[in-house]
This record gives sequence, structure tokens and C-alpha cells, in this order.
Amino acid sequence: MSAMRAGGGAQTRAIGHLDDVSLADAYPWPQGPWLRAMMVTTLDGAAVGPDGRSGSISCAADRRVFAETRRLCDAVLVGAGTIRAERYRPMLAKAEHAEQRAELGLAVAPVVAIVSAAADLPWQEPLFSESALPVLVLASQSAPADRLSLARRHAEVIALPGERLDPREVVRILHERGLRRIVCEGGPMLLRHVAQAGLIDEADISVAPVIAGGGQVVTGPAFDAPIAFDLVQVAWAEGFAFQRYLARRP
Ligand SMILES: NC(=O)c1ccc[n+]([C@@H]2O[C@H](COP(=O)([O-])OP(=O)(O)OC[C@H]3O[C@@H](n4cnc5c(N)ncnc54)[C@H](OP(=O)(O)O)[C@@H]3O)[C@@H](O)[C@H]2O)c1
Repeated sequence: MSAMRAGGGAQTRAIGHLDDVSLADAYPWPQGPWLRAMMVTTLDGAAVGPDGRSGSISCAADRRVFAETRRLCDAVLVGAGTIRAERYRPMLAKAEHAEQRAELGLAVAPVVAIVSAAADLPWQEPLFSESALPVLVLASQSAPADRLSLARRHAEVIALPGERLDPREVVRILHERGLRRIVCEGGPMLLRHVAQAGLIDEADISVAPVIAGGGQVVTGPAFDAPIAFDLVQVAWAEGFAFQRYLARRP
């Protein structure tokens, strides 16, 4: 393991093989409110493989990193498109994490918070009926009333003004509920909005050694100004690079 100087003055920790460090050490949570974005991307910046899901560009080591980044979080923040495409599994209270979560004052499991202006979600999925804590849906007040009332039968719904919800308001609501350690797992549209709002403190990016074509990890046209990060950690396994970046604050 070695450290080198990254652009912007931060130290980059070169772990080497991912197995040479404990994942808990590699993905610590700082004190205070924190938002980490976790995404897997291909060499060409694609967010999914040919089946339209991220699993087909992932690997076992990536799945371990993914699990670690959310293991001790308060909330998993995710866009509706991802829930519709990926079939998220229920967020269960896991016995092996119970003691550490309790010591840290965390709830038994993370809350899944879904941003869906249209309140249009696959309510039959066990995610909604079997998660340890109720799923939170942040929807638009202008979604059809029957959709909102259906949503309320399956989740806790917070309806906010506007079609495109302000991610700052979304994060403020999570903080107000004591949900301070947030993992934003995308997808590309939500990540765009969260990034544009300057809300990303940490970006954990797994780079798959393939070129896949297709849609990008962040959708839409280029920002007026790129958002800068410092590379603070690199590890690898199975040909993937696991990169951890911290937002470069002025
Ligand atoms: N590579 C990765 O790590 C990764 C991670 C996650 C997802 N993915 C892939 O990305 C694809 C989905 O892409 P996507 O861009 O559709 O994902 P997304 O951001 O999860 O979903 C977009 C939807 O989320 C809601 N949304 C996002 N931002 C909003 C805002 N500010 N206000 C209100 N609603 C907002 C809207 O839902 P409504 O339409 O319901 O209003 C919008 O249509 C899937 O194929 C998935 O597999 C890849």
C-alpha cells in the first residue's frame, strides 16, 4: 500500500489488490452529514450492459464494494428508473451488522428513499413489502392523485412541489429525519441532479474493463463547468478499478 500526491493536493492511497485491505477501512464514513455516490461504469462511461442493467457490467468484487458502501448508511437514495430497471431487493436488518449499527446509533437497516416525480413504481416488488423499514417515496405534488394514493398504500410518500424535485430539498428532508449517511446509487438522471446541486461529498466509482456503448453514468448535456474531485484511493480486483474520490471544496 502506498500514498501518492493527487491533483488538487490530496493524497491518493494506492491499496493494490482490494483483498489487501478491509473494506470497512477503505470506505469509512466521516462525522456529520455525508452523501456518497456509488456507481459502476465501463471504460466508455456506460451505466449498463446489453440487458439494460448494471449487474451485467459488475463483478463479485464490485458487489462487495457496493454492499460495503451501504452497510453502515442511514439511507439509500435512488431514482425511480433504477428501481424500475433493477428490481431492488428488500432492505433487511442483517444480524451480522446489528451490533455495529446499534453502536453507531443507526437504525436496524437503511431506509430506501426513492425519487419519483410520477410516483410510478413496481409496488408488487418485495422491496416495498419486506424491507425492515418503510420505503420513502419523494414524489411530485402534481402526480395523479390516484397514483399518489396507491403509492401511500405501499410506502411513506412525501409530495413536493414541481415536476423536477429539488435534490437539496430531498436531502434536507432526509437529514431532518436523522438520515445523515446517504448513499446515492443513481441512476444517471438522479445522479445528474444531485451532482449539479453540489451535493456529492464522495464518489465511489467502480470501473469495469469493458466498452459497452449505450447510456452514460450521468445523463444529459455537459455541465457549464465540470465538478472537481480529488482521487483519494485506488484498488483493483478482477480487472476492475475501485476509485474513491472526494469533492474538491473551494
Ligand atoms: N451503473 C450504475 O451504477 C447504475 C446505477 C443505477 C442505475 N443504473 C441504470 O440506469 C438506468 C436508469 O437510468 P435513469 O436515468 O432512468 O435512472 P434514475 O435516475 O434512477 O431514474 C430516473 C427517474 O427518477 C426520477 N427522478 C430522477 N431525478 C428526479 C428529480 N430531480 N425529480 C423528480 N424525479 C426524479 C424520475 O422518476 P419518474 O419517471 O417516476 O417521475 C425519473 O424518470 C437503468 O438501466 C439502471 O440499470 C446504473
